[in-house]
Amino acid sequence: MKANRRTIIKLLSASGAASLFGFKALSGQAQCLTTDDILGPFYLPGAPEIAQFAPDGAPGTTTFITGTVYANDCETPVQNAKVDVWHANDGGGYEDEHYRGVVYTGDNGQYAFQTILPGKYLNGAQFRPRHFHYRVSALSSELTTQIYFEGDTSIPIDPWASSPDAAERIIPLSEGQQGSLHGVADIYLDVEPVINGQKSQGFSPKRPIIEHVIPNPMSTEGKVQVFLPEAVSASLLLYNLHGKAVKTIIQRQQMAGGRQQWSIPNENQHGLRLQPGIYIVQLQVDGRPADSKRLIVV
Ligand SMILES: [Fe+2]
Repeated sequence: MKANRRTIIKLLSASGAASLFGFKALSGQAQCLTTDDILGPFYLPGAPEIAQFAPDGAPGTTTFITGTVYANDCETPVQNAKVDVWHANDGGGYEDEHYRGVVYTGDNGQYAFQTILPGKYLNGAQFRPRHFHYRVSALSSELTTQIYFEGDTSIPIDPWASSPDAAERIIPLSEGQQGSLHGVADIYLDVEPVINGQKSQGFSPKRPIIEHVIPNPMSTEGKVQVFLPEAVSASLLLYNLHGKAVKTIIQRQQMAGGRQQWSIPNENQHGLRLQPGIYIVQLQVDGRPADSKRLIVV
């Protein structure tokens, strides 16, 4: 396992393969659409709506995946898309209760989850490369596909991962704190670009929202940008996945309407570095939750 992971990292850093493929065809009509892949025999409907798929303490390398679901114009984020993910455990086995979950994209089309790097399993005489299975749906469109990882030596001998169609679904993983891995898997879905009934360009929301949390994943410091349609008393808090507030960014500040930005230092309220993981940035207006975004800390 460890040797395999080191191999992946080494190959990742040595290769510039990702840039060769060009992950986004921004000017194309539908050139960017994410290609499909086989469903496989291990899909189970009704996976839990959770953002951590591997149980606490599960063996394997902690892995954080984030991404954006885009519409078929290749640039407009899709809100509230359902991202259903399942994968093998560290030993290459599928489990009914774990290593699967459903997350939904937020206002900016982003989703995120935490799990472990999927193990390899035999398909006949050959190991399948490590992979996540995805089913992504929004409006009337559904995509079944798989995400692979750069540098995986099983890709060339796997009939699905080695297909030219899969090239843009082989993502790099980079190493974060304490040996965790993180990757970005953007999905381009065949749905028309719509945000709240309007095109996204120049759109000013009618309710207080968190527009961006960048960079995401965050290492040393991030920024959160909010839009307030009118003057309010606003708070910004950082919660862990157990719902515990770990940092108050602003506390009941009287704010003018418009766009506002704050920095998020990588530290909790005791000044200690945040544990790597998924956090929730919550905007409160007049003491009530108004919007939230996931933030991955590496
Ligand atoms: Fe699989």
